[in-house]
Amino acid sequence: PRPILLTRHGESKDNVRGRIGGDTALSDAGEIYAKKLSNFIEKRLKSERAASIWTSTLQRTILTASPIVGFPKIQWRALDEINSGVCDGMTYEEIKKNMPEEYEARKKDKLRYRYPRGESYLDVIQRLEPVIIELERQRAPVVVISHQAVLRALYAYFADRPLKEIPHIEMPLHTIIEIQMGVTGVQEKRYKLMD
Ligand code: G3H
Repeated sequence: PRPILLTRHGESKDNVRGRIGGDTALSDAGEIYAKKLSNFIEKRLKSERAASIWTSTLQRTILTASPIVGFPKIQWRALDEINSGVCDGMTYEEIKKNMPEEYEARKKDKLRYRYPRGESYLDVIQRLEPVIIELERQRAPVVVISHQAVLRALYAYFADRPLKEIPHIEMPLHTIIEIQMGVTGVQEKRYKLMD
């Protein structure tokens, strides 16, 4: 069995401000996580010469991977965060206040709700298909550094969680979810590196 390690990027400046989407750099806490993650990965995958690090094309995942040395890094657009379209850069409070119908529609059906000029969770799940095929094909460990909505979908696939739960799966910052796929099924371990 070989592990797949899933993690969100370190806390970003927009996370601190409560803004969704965007392409900001890391907060101070996020940078500390990036260093802790790299120590963890270098220990955990020490003898794994063929391991690789996959990120999205957004700064916050690339910066989270940047302290890690010794493994190839691959950027996937398919690992980018859910596109929140016209709501990109807003806080949930602002959406609720300025676009109450959108806010309510999403609350009612978060899985199918598509942001105007953006994506739904179902759209994200669909665009992840090539990533999943490639992850299944890999023989060596892969570290996936991505975003909350995307990781919910990836995690649900490997942990066999129902579609309707996906938008509500807890996906905390600064935590690594290690998935081992063996003959007897999927095993999971979590490492919380900081608060
Ligand atoms: O920026 C988007 C968030 O990471 C996704 O969270 O789908 O719970 O709004 P949400």
